[in-house]
Amino acid sequence: MSTVLVFTQYGGAEAQEFMDRELPPPGPSQVALEVKAAGVNPADWKIRAGQMGDHWQLPAPMGREAAGVVTAVGVDVDGIAVGDEVVGLAAKGHGTFAQHTLLDAKQTVLKPEELSFAAAAALPVAGATAYDVTHQIELEPGQTMLILGAGGGVGLLASQIGKVHEFTVIGVASASKQQIVESTGAAFVESGPGAAGRIREVAPDGVDLLIDLVGGQALREIAEVVKDSQNIVTTADPDTAEQLGGSGVNRTAEGMQKIIEVAQYGLVDPHIGRRFSLTDAQQAIASVEDGHTAGKVIVEP
Ligand SMILES: NC(=O)c1ccc[n+]([C@@H]2O[C@H](COP(=O)([O-])OP(=O)(O)OC[C@H]3O[C@@H](n4cnc5c(N)ncnc54)[C@H](OP(=O)(O)O)[C@@H]3O)[C@@H](O)[C@H]2O)c1
Repeated sequence: MSTVLVFTQYGGAEAQEFMDRELPPPGPSQVALEVKAAGVNPADWKIRAGQMGDHWQLPAPMGREAAGVVTAVGVDVDGIAVGDEVVGLAAKGHGTFAQHTLLDAKQTVLKPEELSFAAAAALPVAGATAYDVTHQIELEPGQTMLILGAGGGVGLLASQIGKVHEFTVIGVASASKQQIVESTGAAFVESGPGAAGRIREVAPDGVDLLIDLVGGQALREIAEVVKDSQNIVTTADPDTAEQLGGSGVNRTAEGMQKIIEVAQYGLVDPHIGRRFSLTDAQQAIASVEDGHTAGKVIVEP
C-alpha cells in the first residue's frame, strides 16, 4: 500500500487528494521504486488543469519524475536490479508524489553517487528539456544565447549549459532572481515592460538564439532582439514562437542521460529551490503553479 497524490477531475487544485493504493508488481519495462525525492514541474498542474489533453484516466496519480531505490524489476528490464539507486520518469498511469511508484525502465537510469536523490530528481524533466532546448540550434563559443524565464527549473540549467559551451548568456527574469541568475554566469536583465531595450543595452547587435520558457506577450515583446527569428526555440508556447518564425523544442531520447552526466561531473547545479514533505505536496505544486519559482521544487516522502 502506498499513499499517492491524485487529481479526481480536470480543473483546479481542489480536485487534488491523497489516496492509498495497492501498487501492482512492475510490468514489462517497469521498475518499482521506493521514492526518495520527486521533482515538481509546471506539467503537474497543467495536466490537472486539462491544458495537456483529457486522456488521463481518473483519478490520475500526480508527479512525473523521481529518484529512489529499486524494489522490484519487471521482465525484460536490463541493467537495473533490486537495490539500485535510479532516477527516471513515472510509468504510464503512475505518479511520483508517493512513497512507492512504478517507473518506465526505458526512461530510467542509474543515479550517479555524486548526486543526491533530490539533485537527481530535479533533472529528468527540467534538466533534459534544458539540454534539448540548448542543443536544437547549435551556437559557436562566444555567440549570444538569451533565456526568457532564466530563474526557473529549466532556465537555470539552460544558462549553465550555455556557459559550459562558452556562449555569452543573458538571462531575463524578475528582479528577485538577479542573484541566482548571475550565479550561473549569465548577464541579468529584468523582465517586464521595456525588457527589449534593456537586452539591447547588453547586446546592442542582438542575440543569436532566444530560448523562451515563458511565451505569450513576454515573448512577443522581446522577439525583435533575435537576429534571425528562426532562432527562437520555446518550451512554453509553440504557437506564439511559430507565429514569430521560431519553433517548439524537439525532445530527444538522450537528453536525460546527457544532463545527468553533466551534473555528475559537477558542470551544472540543479539549483534546488524549495523542498516539501509528501504531506505538503499540494503546497509544492501550488508554489510552481504560482509561476515564479526559483530553481526546482522537490517533494520528499
Ligand atoms: N515541452 C516540454 O517538454 C517541456 C518540458 C519542461 C518544461 N516545459 C515548459 O517550460 C516552461 C518553463 O518550465 P520550468 O520548469 O522552468 O518552469 P518554472 O520553474 O515554473 O519557471 C518558470 C519561470 O518563468 C518566469 N516567468 C514567469 N513569467 C515571466 C515573464 N513574464 N517574464 C520573464 N520570466 C517569467 C518565472 O520567474 P519570474 O519570477 O522571474 O517571473 C519562473 O522562474 C513551462 O511552461 C513548462 O511547462 C516544457
